[in-house]
Amino acid sequence: MKKRVFSGVQPTGNLHIGNYLGALKNWTKVQYDYESIFCIVDLHAITVYQSPEELKAKILEIAALFLAAGIDPAHSTVMVQSSVAGHAELSWLLTCVTPVGWLERMTQYKAKSALQETIGSGLMQYPVLMAADILLYQAGVVPVGDDQSQHLELTRDIAQRFNSLYGETFVMPETKLPTVGARVMGLDEPDKKMSKSAPGSNHAIGILDPPELIKKKLSRATTDSNPHVDFDTMGPGVQNLLGIYQAFGSVSEDDMKAKFAGMRYGDLKKNVTEMIVSHLEPIQQRYREITADPAYLLSILTAGRDRVAPIAESTVRLTKQRMGVFTS
Ligand code: TRP
Repeated sequence: MKKRVFSGVQPTGNLHIGNYLGALKNWTKVQYDYESIFCIVDLHAITVYQSPEELKAKILEIAALFLAAGIDPAHSTVMVQSSVAGHAELSWLLTCVTPVGWLERMTQYKAKSALQETIGSGLMQYPVLMAADILLYQAGVVPVGDDQSQHLELTRDIAQRFNSLYGETFVMPETKLPTVGARVMGLDEPDKKMSKSAPGSNHAIGILDPPELIKKKLSRATTDSNPHVDFDTMGPGVQNLLGIYQAFGSVSEDDMKAKFAGMRYGDLKKNVTEMIVSHLEPIQQRYREITADPAYLLSILTAGRDRVAPIAESTVRLTKQRMGVFTS
């Protein structure tokens, strides 16, 4: 039997080339080797306030981007978290076996809660809901970025604790797939990973950014004080631009050196811009086609929900039985 893969993306902010190179592109490649579930985690998004109208639109935007990037709905499941009640149900059941101390030491919780005036208890439960997403489908493989490895570790701890209290119930998920994608850094701050929520307008390149905007952002990207590309002394900004080019074009190290060594930064940026635009244009074109037909997109999400709902139901039922709560 094929292993099951589960991964999730929050419907907030704009998906950027870091999300594409680090996650989406990879998913489209591995989707035929696994039974894949790609989930838009709207219940995670509301752990901090979201405007309802924007959230509704974002959910559909992300779904359309999944498909536009090459997730094949005939093969992989694309679904919205809140459409399957089991995510919230299992999350409660797992909350009851999760010590508060485990949640208090999550670095993402500490970082996010520091920004909030009032900390919703959902923000603290965030990683339990994530554990529920994964364990609900007994997913064996969870492709996520480094920033999520602590949450994945916690998922294993929760599963283990549950299994030892109530008997073997959950499959232990593996960390992730080996990713080939580059770790893309912010254009304005090349020492920080490119982020959906960073404030700077020059920080990230959105998958849906028009070519002119991409060009403008690239022209402002941080480089270093060298006059041209020097592979031995380059700073993180130049390294990041080269990394983006290399990841989009799947170019070898040798070819990168042959092409870029000694190149002036203006020309480097022109090359990187062209590379990005040539890869994003077809995705943007498909995105426009998909969003022009809302009924099609909804039918994909409904079919996704229907495909996984029985798996979720059976896990919730088993978990309830193990814990002794009522099942009809
Ligand atoms: N927390 C993840 C992120 O912000 C999103 C997520 C939610 C997720 N549930 C998941 C990722 C389950 C993998 C598996 O990136």
